[in-house]
Amino acid sequence: MTDSNKSWALVTGASSGLGVDFARQLAEQGRNLILVARREQALQDLAAELRELYSVQVEVVVLDLGTREAANQLFTKTETAGWVVDVLINNAGFGCYGDFLEQELDRVQAMLDLDISTVVRLTHLYGGAMKSRGSGRILQVASVAAYQATPSYSAYAAAKAFVLYFGEGIHHEWKGSGVSCTTLSPGITATEFLKVSGQSATFYQRSVMMQSPEVVKIGLRAMFKGKPSIVPGILNKITAWSIRTIPRTWATAIGQMLMKN
Ligand SMILES: NC(=O)c1ccc[n+]([C@@H]2O[C@H](COP(=O)([O-])OP(=O)(O)OC[C@H]3O[C@@H](n4cnc5c(N)ncnc54)[C@H](OP(=O)(O)O)[C@@H]3O)[C@@H](O)[C@H]2O)c1
Repeated sequence: MTDSNKSWALVTGASSGLGVDFARQLAEQGRNLILVARREQALQDLAAELRELYSVQVEVVVLDLGTREAANQLFTKTETAGWVVDVLINNAGFGCYGDFLEQELDRVQAMLDLDISTVVRLTHLYGGAMKSRGSGRILQVASVAAYQATPSYSAYAAAKAFVLYFGEGIHHEWKGSGVSCTTLSPGITATEFLKVSGQSATFYQRSVMMQSPEVVKIGLRAMFKGKPSIVPGILNKITAWSIRTIPRTWATAIGQMLMKN
């Protein structure tokens, strides 16, 4: 299957924020959907809405993607059911805000497991299946925080830097294979992200905040064009690229200033 109307798209973290809009916009394109997250009711409500509005098939998989077995469980489930996934949106993730030593270590580890390990495992499993079929699209959701060290989000920003370099590396490895890997690096976006990370929006964040549907539209467009990487929004682009023109220590200091509550 290629980018046809009857492909299955799998969206992780589809119970809120960007994931909901990925699901909505993919359903609008006529794609069948597999929605994955932990909150079942939110997934079921969204699934019912999308079936009704767009007459597509929508399956719900309630799963904690933060465990070592989760990616294999999900892959086995979709393979056994015969749902051929040719679009994978690696979106589920969260951040931990605050001084590193004051963050609970188990929560930081859970973040790294979800934001890094599960992304790698899902990319290996679904990317492998796509490569053997000769077609498919993967979108990795990183962050503009990946472009510099970010005090108060030190571990999260480093995890997203992993996703950015991982995604861009894979894009090159797969050139010409019919399978593409695109990395989306949003800046602050109106979702549950800040509530979950434990931060109140700073003046800077309130000034540059984007809306989720717009970020998703830019990400999906880049993915279907097979682009390696995309930073949505002009202000985020300026942030990501201007960082390169100044010493890294300055960039880190500016990051601290912009993130401090
Ligand atoms: N919003 C921003 O400002 C921003 C900026 C840059 C990058 N991002 C990235 O964008 C992605 C989406 O985040 P968002 O902004 O949409 O935040 P969000 O509204 O908090 O959504 C996060 C999603 O991830 C899911 N999730 C969290 N832990 C999970 C787990 N253990 N297993 C399965 N699913 C899990 C949540 O579902 P359940 O709780 O139901 O499991 C939820 O659907 C994340 O990777 C985030 O790092 C966000």
